[in-house]
Amino acid sequence: MNSVVIQEPGKLVIEQRALPVPAAGEVRVRVSYAGICGSDVHIYHGHNPFAKYPRVIGHEFFGHIDSVGEGVDTARIGERVVIDPVVSCGHCYPCSVGRPNVCNELQVIGVHRDGGFSDYACAPAKNAYNVPASIPDKLASMVEPFTIAANITAFLKPTPQDTALVYGAGPMGLTVIQVLKGVYGVKNVIVTDRIEERLHMALDSGADWTINNSERNVAEVLSAEGVRPTIIVDAACHPAILQEAILLASPAARIGMMGFSGEPSTITQQSITSKEISLFSSRLNSHRFPQVIEWMEQGKITPEKLVTHWMPAGDVEAALTLFEKDQRSCCKVLLTF
Ligand code: NAI
Ligand code: MN
Ligand code: ZN
Repeated sequence: MNSVVIQEPGKLVIEQRALPVPAAGEVRVRVSYAGICGSDVHIYHGHNPFAKYPRVIGHEFFGHIDSVGEGVDTARIGERVVIDPVVSCGHCYPCSVGRPNVCNELQVIGVHRDGGFSDYACAPAKNAYNVPASIPDKLASMVEPFTIAANITAFLKPTPQDTALVYGAGPMGLTVIQVLKGVYGVKNVIVTDRIEERLHMALDSGADWTINNSERNVAEVLSAEGVRPTIIVDAACHPAILQEAILLASPAARIGMMGFSGEPSTITQQSITSKEISLFSSRLNSHRFPQVIEWMEQGKITPEKLVTHWMPAGDVEAALTLFEKDQRSCCKVLLTF
């Protein structure tokens, strides 16, 4: 089989490998579609602190189960599945409170262990979720990015009367916008980004209005409109955003963050406590696959609005470059295997 391997930072090779044999409790998936994510690019460039090399990247993938390991029902062979990349120990404190995504021994498929940019990939059987026929093959790998939005919004508990402000209209911001509108029915969703084309995508994904913050100051625009957001999601993840978000937030607002920057953010206790703001962070997802699959089946979210390109896996280098360099024309890129 062919696998996309990052042998060391900066060195990508399509490697011929022997078919992996599923271990006890695992399934093997014949991969057909896999999504490119920012973290794949980070592993490629050596900017992901968790990655070990060599590594088959890819944590957003869909395919058919073609073989099962010991203890897994052979009836699962042939099943159409998406894979939850979160592999957890099941008995530590976070696991015991339903948060395997921050397990003490967390292993993320495609980061800590080999992933889905490969003709075949193995994963624990319980991480392989059946995809109903109503979700087409070419969109099924989009379940994973929406689980990130499902996870953060579960903390924020949006209601229709909220006014939400979303920073960043990349794949993460767009999934959040779709969930805020399509699932929670949030009345007013405002989106800010520096790229006009991304803001058009935000409108297409249901945003009510947008602010290009390379041209206009978000604080001034909101103040002129008399708007104080009650929910703010930072899906752009620059460390300076938190300070602005706290400033703009309504009293009693909730702020969700998902960034991994190692740079400090400058915030004060007073700015948070005086308005009794709740701050939530969210990493990956905790058992959100079934929920997102249901939302997709019900048409509450529309993954096709994020996908701008499908490209053959053999063109992975070109696909990664396009994804990284051209945020105007490119949003989600899916590789075909
Ligand atoms: P992306 O780079 O495609 O999108 C980010 C968007 O934010 C871009 O459109 C960019 O123009 C915009 N932006 C950048 N700085 C901005 C600013 N100061 N104000 C307004 N907009 C700004 O990235 P993607 O894939 O959407 O991911 C976003 C972030 O989410 C990344 O930092 C990534 O590390 C993080 N992430 C976190 C996850 C988690 O589980 N916590 C999972 C996946 C991604
Ligand atoms: Mn991802
Ligand atoms: Zn654990």
